[in-house]
Amino acid sequence: MQSHRGEWSSKIGFILAASGSAIGLGNIWRYPYIVGKNGGAAFVIIYLLIVVIIGLPYMLGELALGRSSQKNPVGAIGAIKPGSWWKGVGYLGVLTGLGILSFYGVIAGWTVGYVFKMFSGAPGNFAAFISEPVQVTLLLAFFIFITAAIVHGGVSGGIERWSKILMPILFVLMVILIIYAVSLPGSGAGLRFYLMPDFSKIDGNVILAALGQAFFSLSLGMGLMITYGSYVTKSDDLFSSAGYIVFFDSLIAIMSGLIIFPALFASGQDPEAGAKLVFVVFPELFMTMPFGSIIGGIFFILLSVAALTSTISLLEVPVAFLVDEKKFHRKRIVWVVAGIAFLLGLPSALSQGANDFFSNFGLIPERLADPDFLSQMSFVFGDFSLAFGALLLSIFIGWVWGAKAAAAEIAQGSRFFGKVFNIWVIMMRYVIPLSIFIILLNLFGLFN
Ligand code: PFF
Repeated sequence: MQSHRGEWSSKIGFILAASGSAIGLGNIWRYPYIVGKNGGAAFVIIYLLIVVIIGLPYMLGELALGRSSQKNPVGAIGAIKPGSWWKGVGYLGVLTGLGILSFYGVIAGWTVGYVFKMFSGAPGNFAAFISEPVQVTLLLAFFIFITAAIVHGGVSGGIERWSKILMPILFVLMVILIIYAVSLPGSGAGLRFYLMPDFSKIDGNVILAALGQAFFSLSLGMGLMITYGSYVTKSDDLFSSAGYIVFFDSLIAIMSGLIIFPALFASGQDPEAGAKLVFVVFPELFMTMPFGSIIGGIFFILLSVAALTSTISLLEVPVAFLVDEKKFHRKRIVWVVAGIAFLLGLPSALSQGANDFFSNFGLIPERLADPDFLSQMSFVFGDFSLAFGALLLSIFIGWVWGAKAAAAEIAQGSRFFGKVFNIWVIMMRYVIPLSIFIILLNLFGLFN
């Protein structure tokens, strides 16, 4: 009966596709600079604790809601609480997917640009590159186009098949880069920064940065895992699948730190370089290495691949909503949604110096986000919307649908979930919504 929607063809296909969504710019570009800014190894430990204690159980909640309803976020909520305002939480997720896709596509476009820049042997100036309007627009269009072409193929034909090919390539490329980076003279200081914790660096803001990073990195809070969960068969084990997804996402993040920090310290650079770390510090670093332009080119291919499996998932959420709820034809509506994402991405693309108005947009206060349109979109959709969506969804799953009903869905097909059934219920109802509430307070600067 569900065959018109599509289904993952295997458990491993689902795990790879969901891991592909989770693993992206968030792991390889955002994670290292957040680690660098928040003091290194101690942050890593806090981050991993949060991933396991909050991220994993929350992910199970979204997956359970998706599989139980076999629907997109709007349809899933509507199936449990018909005609209520809760459906708005689903709409928020659909909108968030589109919003994240628009600015994420811009950064993903830069990574493609850097593939060519690195192979050419002269990466040039980053600020000049991102302020050049035609190039960044074409790169955004290219990235959204490739994303749409894959989603066009449907759930198992497109997303699953590509994830199966792309994810293992990514992993192998990263192992090669780790071996290279840790063999550099001077890399030991980087390993110490990254692996030897100094707990005096931990405070409330560091913990909250870890919470935010965990949600973004695991693709939680906008119903992505509801959507991907809806394609999972009843006999699959959601509990072990979520375990693998969380494990792979954390593994890739940890691995990207193992490339970046040794390489960074080997060349005497500053770990607190921030958001420009990957695009400014890396190319400079690569250019000092033997075969640097080839290694750099490979690195940016790797980053583009990781970003692509995430943009695929970001596009899938609005597409699944329009196919299920509005009965649009998947193959046609994909191009319409992609077109909207491209148009929505244009101001972000032009906000890095190309256009004065968008470069100094400044609607959201400076305290929360930089004034350029891209940073403002990143704050609204990547930080606020995900956290707010996750707060509402955890309340919906824990209290409206009911944590026990959700737990029963997870238990179906799972051999081991029974052992943690009651703990999970407590997490879903109390621990998770409260923790997310605290992130939100921090977004509004209540702890500063
Ligand atoms: N998890 C992705 C990353 O780390 O790059 C970003 C993302 C994808 C966030 C899909 C949210 C989402 F639904």
